[in-house]
Amino acid sequence: MKIKEIYNLAIQMGIKADFREEQGIRKFLENKRKQYEKMNEKEKQEFDKEALENPYLDSRIYHIADDRDIKKVLVGVDIEPAEVLMAKEIGDIDLIIAHHPIGKGLAHLADVMDLQSDVLNFYGVPINIAEGLMRERIEEVARGVNSVNHQRTVDAAKILKINLMNSHTPCDNLAAKFLKNLVEEKKPERVGELVDLLKEIPEYKEAIKIGAGPEIFVGIPENRCGKIALTEITGGTEGSPKLYGKMVNAGIGTVIGMHISEEHRKEAEVAHLNVVIAGHMSSDSLGINLFLDELEKQDIEIIPCSGLIRISRTG
Ligand SMILES: [Fe+2]
Repeated sequence: MKIKEIYNLAIQMGIKADFREEQGIRKFLENKRKQYEKMNEKEKQEFDKEALENPYLDSRIYHIADDRDIKKVLVGVDIEPAEVLMAKEIGDIDLIIAHHPIGKGLAHLADVMDLQSDVLNFYGVPINIAEGLMRERIEEVARGVNSVNHQRTVDAAKILKINLMNSHTPCDNLAAKFLKNLVEEKKPERVGELVDLLKEIPEYKEAIKIGAGPEIFVGIPENRCGKIALTEITGGTEGSPKLYGKMVNAGIGTVIGMHISEEHRKEAEVAHLNVVIAGHMSSDSLGINLFLDELEKQDIEIIPCSGLIRISRTG
């Protein structure tokens, strides 16, 4: 496979697993086009035109040094210059695939957070409330990533002539879909049963060994789950803490998340919302693995690094 084919596969898999479904994504892109058409010439010049076709601007190809057939990839959750050097040292790495965005993917992280409004709406939060609270948070995240050294890793890849891309939200969508299907199939009644169910997943089993397994952050094992929502697995990064009260009003009893800040945790506690934190690297690994399995089927060799717990489900 060529880099562009691998990249397109990631995007297509992400769309298939997306809460908004294909129709919702089409509308999202149409809306972007309408905004673009209203722009003046100067605004159009500055506009990132990839936004008209790619619903996941946090997932990009950053550098193609050599557009060769890809046989061996180095894949990690966070790729920094150290991992680029590692690829050089290994010697025959055709492509590095990062999970977390870097470069312009990171600069556009806030763009994918719109998805969270749709996920919240899917679980019963009125869209006006979801959009209103998410808008504040999206602006906050956009300002937050403004100060980082965006191109550091991309520059390293350019200097060392290494191919580099990432897949963030498409992989997180795969993890969310996987967990949603599991919860809907097994229907755990109590929060403790939900944690036990997660602990059966191989990525989480591995995480337990290093002390990073699934845990209850709000609630007790005996609490009943009520409606379980997968609102915190995909959609860029954490949403607004003000949403928890609204989620409870919408009938949500338990949230499964990858990670949670202390400010968010306190708000969830006040709202009597159970929170199960599945684990960050392990949850990211689950989504990445579901994508990597498709590459493995194409005879691409995978070298995991930087927090990726590689589990193959290709049989
Ligand atoms: Fe992550």
